[in-house]
Amino acid sequence: MKIAIVGSGYVGLVSGACLAQLGHEVVCTDSDTSKIRTLEAGGLPIYEPGLDTLIAQARREGRLTFCSNPADAVAMGEAIFICVGTPPLPNGDADLSAIDHVARLIATEAKSPKLVIEKSTVPARTGQELKRALAVYGRKTGVVFRVASNPEFLREGTAVGDFLHPDRIVVGVEDETAEKQLRDIYRPLLERTFSCPIHAPACPEGPAATWLVTTISSAELIKHASNSFLALKISYANMVADLAERLGADIGEVTRAMGLDPRIGPSFLSAGLGFGGFCLPKDLQAFVHLAERSGVDFTMLKEAEKINRRRIERFVEKIRDALWVIREKRVGVLGLAFKPDTDDVRFAPAIDLVATLVREGARVRAYDPEAMEKARPLLPEVEYAQSAYEAARDAEALLIATEWGQFRQLDWDQVRETMARPLILDGRNLLSPKEMKARGFEYRSFGRPD
Ligand code: UGA
Repeated sequence: MKIAIVGSGYVGLVSGACLAQLGHEVVCTDSDTSKIRTLEAGGLPIYEPGLDTLIAQARREGRLTFCSNPADAVAMGEAIFICVGTPPLPNGDADLSAIDHVARLIATEAKSPKLVIEKSTVPARTGQELKRALAVYGRKTGVVFRVASNPEFLREGTAVGDFLHPDRIVVGVEDETAEKQLRDIYRPLLERTFSCPIHAPACPEGPAATWLVTTISSAELIKHASNSFLALKISYANMVADLAERLGADIGEVTRAMGLDPRIGPSFLSAGLGFGGFCLPKDLQAFVHLAERSGVDFTMLKEAEKINRRRIERFVEKIRDALWVIREKRVGVLGLAFKPDTDDVRFAPAIDLVATLVREGARVRAYDPEAMEKARPLLPEVEYAQSAYEAARDAEALLIATEWGQFRQLDWDQVRETMARPLILDGRNLLSPKEMKARGFEYRSFGRPD
């Protein structure tokens, strides 16, 4: 199928590259022409493992192109995926102006029937507004538009694998033709007849994705409800961690046992500095607003948000408790990205943490394997190190703010030798308290006996 992707950000690029991998002819466009120029020159505006190889291969084989004129992309696509940003407005609502803009563009430029698919995360009922906008602005063209919602469940850092090996594909539709078209788009994935770059030459057998056909509003709600539930789970684990700390229990032991209950599940129970990134915090806020506007009192979501905001304070209290005075102290920070395997620092707890320490007068030297370039403009007062070891040198405390796997593998004896004081505050419970103590560190983390 000929597919246009409008919005070549994170979701658009991963979706475009993966749909090309499934055999479709894909064109990606964006209103930011510099982004398209970068992509055409073989660069990537984001860091996502595996995406560069996928894009290069699809381009070589002629299945993926980039185009700076959205109108041309709209003309080409039988199916158009809307993947534009829906950033938070100052009041926490999702800003839908980019969706509105694309709707008008599609309505006025389309000369043939289009399946218009919202992939951006949007509040329930947006699909109905999209339908109305297409009808209003396209009334003179006589073109038939079908609207569908197909939310993405891609995690940064594992997005390519998440797209190609999903546990569910949700399609919110209003007619059989739209469902059939979407099934055709995803058929190679459902029947596993595409070549998988991750598990080449063959995909491992595993449970196939569940194909879920819903109303458009349900599909929209599924996305917000899923992300908000994940946020609730993390905040719940964080509160249990605070309690464990007071009671002398170990949060790792508690959540491990909880997670073995299939009704609870093991993931998203890691206590620490809390959730960040461009999805969970903003989706939670938008969901709170949607509930309020709909007259539903969803206070527990607000609590989850409040608990999450307090994680930084809790960590700074731990730092203050250990250092006594923060001002003038040299502090090393490991990790700036909102989670490992990404260079994304948007709403990253690590960024808020460092900003707080800088405000309190600490001398911060930070290291992140991928995110330093993006952190630099946000934290200009910070010194950036070339390695984790350099960040630790002469530090009176070393903080772990992002759980990069490589930090677990450091030569901790070497780290200890170069520090002014062997004090580690682990904001992600990455290391073992017992082991760090045995190596001669003062070690503090969340919800585990010091
Ligand atoms: C999230 C969802 O997991 C995806 O399913 C969804 O598609 C995506 O948002 C989206 O809406 O596009 P992502 O933002 O990449 O994906 O990040 P997550 O892996 O969900 O992590 C979010 C934050 O929670 C990170 O800061 C992470 O460090 C934190 N976290 C995660 C915890 O603090 N504890 C945990 O147990 C798990």
